[in-house]
Amino acid sequence: MSIAGPRYDLSRNEVPRSTDSLLKPLVSAASQMYKYPDTGYLEGLLADLHHVTPAQVLVGAGSTRLLQLLFNTARLKRVGRLFAAQPGFEAYTYLARQAGLQVCPVPQMAEAPTAAAALATVPKGGALLLANPNNPTGVLWELEELACLTQELPQDTLLIVDDAYIEFAPVGYAGAAADLLDNRPGVLRLRTFSKAHGLAGLRVGYAYGDAALLQQMRGLDVPYAVDRLARAVASHVVMQERGQAEERAREVRQLRDTLLVCLRDRDLCVPSSHGNFLWLPADVLPADPLNQALLRHGVLARRFDDGVRVTIGSDPANAAVLQAVDECRAARDTRGV
Ligand SMILES: Cc1ncc(COP(=O)(O)O)c(C=O)c1O
Repeated sequence: MSIAGPRYDLSRNEVPRSTDSLLKPLVSAASQMYKYPDTGYLEGLLADLHHVTPAQVLVGAGSTRLLQLLFNTARLKRVGRLFAAQPGFEAYTYLARQAGLQVCPVPQMAEAPTAAAALATVPKGGALLLANPNNPTGVLWELEELACLTQELPQDTLLIVDDAYIEFAPVGYAGAAADLLDNRPGVLRLRTFSKAHGLAGLRVGYAYGDAALLQQMRGLDVPYAVDRLARAVASHVVMQERGQAEERAREVRQLRDTLLVCLRDRDLCVPSSHGNFLWLPADVLPADPLNQALLRHGVLARRFDDGVRVTIGSDPANAAVLQAVDECRAARDTRGV
């Protein structure tokens, strides 16, 4: 089989969507491009959404930019180390390195996070970063464990929760997590418009929570870092398209769970995922041969040291993933591995 290049890019956890419905707010903002962005409006909408004050919200050029600001705050520099799941989002490691921070793993946090493990690992006054759901494993904190963590974590220990994929968690989870996490001192949450909202190309995200920490982050940012177009479209989405993001997340959950069942029907112990991706650990299928088979079937996935992460795509993309998996299993069975 000869294939010119990957037909399906399932490497970046994007949600395929048409952004045509956003042309109106985009064009209307574009007619005012001679003006600097209006700051404050989007922040106000987000503050209302999360029942916090505008001072507890910071909008940034993607949550990656907010992570960079956060890692460079005096508060984080003083701590020097950041505790997180391993494997985790790759940007944590390189942004931490840029900022002179060390990322230290919390045992089992990527597979089965427990408050006990986190509390035993993170020193008092330190910083714990959890992606919930975790990228790349798709693991979500049980609400009981999250409750225990928030109750037991010392007040001076920082809890950073990266909610990039929270919309793909079961219905009701985000609200329950908000009851546990929001408006607590020392808690900072990060959100993005890149995933369920389908605006990865626009670069908008936000952080909300601990006002003192946000103030330090603000002090490191440049003025007007998020442009007028991005602000206008994000504001429109918050006001009018949240239902569409929920609908899109529901579709993705369905496609994800269907693909998961198909993989498990093949006797592969693929872990459940709460993100818009599945994690195929190397002990389920060896990562290199799987990645090669995916490429032969036109699928670009993300290869990690200990597995392969595949974003949930359209039906044909997911069918191509299954074909690649079948090819990989057949080769493995022939070798008798
Ligand atoms: C866990 C996690 N956090 C944050 C981000 C960054 O998102 P953004 O596009 O807002 O920078 C990603 C992107 O893949 C991610 O996986």
